[in-house]
Amino acid sequence: MVQGVANWNTEQTRDWLQSYTDDWVSFYRKHTSDGEVASYIPELLKADPDALGITVIGKNGMTLRSGDVNTTFTLQSISKVISFVVACMERGVAYMLDRVDVEPAGEAFNSIMHLEMKQLKKPFNPLINAGAITVTSILEGRTSDEKLEPMFELLEDMLGHRPELDVDVYESERDSSMRNRAIGYYLLETGFLESDMSVTLETYFKQCSIDVSIDDLARIGMILANDGRDPETGEEIIPRQIARITKALMLTCGMYDASGKFATYVGIPAKSGVSGGIIAAVPPRVRDEELPFLSGCGIGVYGPSLDDKGNSIAGIRLLRHIANQWDLSIF
Ligand code: DON
Repeated sequence: MVQGVANWNTEQTRDWLQSYTDDWVSFYRKHTSDGEVASYIPELLKADPDALGITVIGKNGMTLRSGDVNTTFTLQSISKVISFVVACMERGVAYMLDRVDVEPAGEAFNSIMHLEMKQLKKPFNPLINAGAITVTSILEGRTSDEKLEPMFELLEDMLGHRPELDVDVYESERDSSMRNRAIGYYLLETGFLESDMSVTLETYFKQCSIDVSIDDLARIGMILANDGRDPETGEEIIPRQIARITKALMLTCGMYDASGKFATYVGIPAKSGVSGGIIAAVPPRVRDEELPFLSGCGIGVYGPSLDDKGNSIAGIRLLRHIANQWDLSIF
């Protein structure tokens, strides 16, 4: 762990952190060969399996960018964070928590079996597919465009630009995702869906296909870390209660059936997507000594080569290393 620096907020220490980050990215890039790019959405296979990049944005504005920082990729499951936040803002937290639980499923992200075997009164949590599809059905609007618009607006408020839909990825998932259709039919049969099933799935596939960069993820992570407020302007973009619940869900459920290990070894609220993105929100921490990003930061990672749980293999290892070096754990 880094120690003994009196002030981490200088230009000199930024350069120092940057050069360490560059070294770690080139070291962990070799780990991409331990995983595989997702193929069940055919369009995702076009990603470069060796890619790895990270952006860190501190609450004080200090920014580190290293590796493949200019690639854009689709949000995939990271969109579940955005749809949950928007649904809570539209319907209220109590309404949402009545309809989606907040318990880790301990199953794969696209598991269907637990829904039937456990005879659930509501899906386990909003960050697995069954819960996320339920959340999307609850979003206001009759068409997919009406349901998506508030998500785009929230993203624009956080990023300062409106992200675009990757139509090729959307069509690729729409035409191949039999599993999500099966989940949709099951949710329809059990009465969980609050909108037409085909509109719900169309919206879900589109939200997963919104294009972002790691800079975008780091910025969203930083706003979540700061309890929903933009530190530059002081503006509240996400109500504090919703930001807090979202971070709790990211910590307990964000990395699917690897969430316990991630909480133990990394200790930061995070959410992954099968395109290889990870968003992490590092809240301010209290320590006896000066450490990098003590007032909090957001982190965006991209590495499309995945482990068997569907999380970026090199991305997780890189995050674990950095979290240990900079003592980023919230615990
Ligand atoms: O629903 C799916 O299968 C994808 N659109 C998203 C899954 C995903 O990103 C899981 N993350 N690791």
